[in-house]
Amino acid sequence: MQVGIIGYLGKMGQELLRCIEENDDTCVYKKDQDNEILQVHPDCLLDFSIPEAIASSCKKALVFQCPLVVGTTGLGNQHVEMLEKTSKSVPVFYSTNYSLGIHCLHTMLASIQKQLKDWDVGIMETHHTEKKDAPSGTALSLQKTLARNCPIQSFRLKGVPGEHQIMITNQNETIHIKHTAYSRKVFASGALDCARWLLSHKYENGFFTMNSRFKGEQNETNNTTNH
Ligand SMILES: NC(=O)c1ccc[n+]([C@@H]2O[C@H](COP(=O)([O-])OP(=O)(O)OC[C@H]3O[C@@H](n4cnc5c(N)ncnc54)[C@H](OP(=O)(O)O)[C@@H]3O)[C@@H](O)[C@H]2O)c1
Repeated sequence: MQVGIIGYLGKMGQELLRCIEENDDTCVYKKDQDNEILQVHPDCLLDFSIPEAIASSCKKALVFQCPLVVGTTGLGNQHVEMLEKTSKSVPVFYSTNYSLGIHCLHTMLASIQKQLKDWDVGIMETHHTEKKDAPSGTALSLQKTLARNCPIQSFRLKGVPGEHQIMITNQNETIHIKHTAYSRKVFASGALDCARWLLSHKYENGFFTMNSRFKGEQNETNNTTNH
């Protein structure tokens, strides 16, 4: 696969470049705030940058006529609308978290969410100190899946790629659910896997999420949100 990376000098951009090398894929287009390097038109574009870059990434996907996989978090409604509009012309995949473990966590929570009516729920998320948005996009997506405005506590501590913990309590018992990403590789390889999946759909336009990607493989929990 010949890919293009938007935000290639960033932490995720560099991790994507490492994964691409390991997989015999090639990076043929790179863009960062001040640099743009084009060898040939990519098969797929991956955006892990900042919300303000989304408009330009959408334009690039239309110019290259290729799928766009977006991992940038902290997007506002206007950015999501841009992605939705772009998805009418090229396939667009958006997820706040490309880890399969987090996808499974959503599925799990969706399946118990109705039974938690009388329980208290809290989300704690920890990320490295350079993370720009808080709460994390993943914590906000988990809140959506839980279908309640539960409190989210954010910690910014050196070196943590991503940790999400959910505490579900009533007077008599507590459930702790925790997901830890040991490295950024889990997000980078997950996003590349989604790019490959989009390409296997032969350029079918539309807006895709982890939920649509794994729809056929999960149990009958249709109330899982798009994440
Ligand atoms: N969905 C997921 O699974 C997942 C996983 C991890 C991270 N993320 C998200 O991915 C994003 C990037 O994370 P990161 O840790 O890699 O951040 P980062 O290290 O700050 O990297 C962001 C990169 O984007 C570049 N950039 C800034 N403006 C740009 C523009 N207009 N066009 C193109 N590139 C531009 C930055 O360049 P400068 O340094 O020159 O400003 C920087 O190299 C964040 O939103 C983060 O939350 C998502």
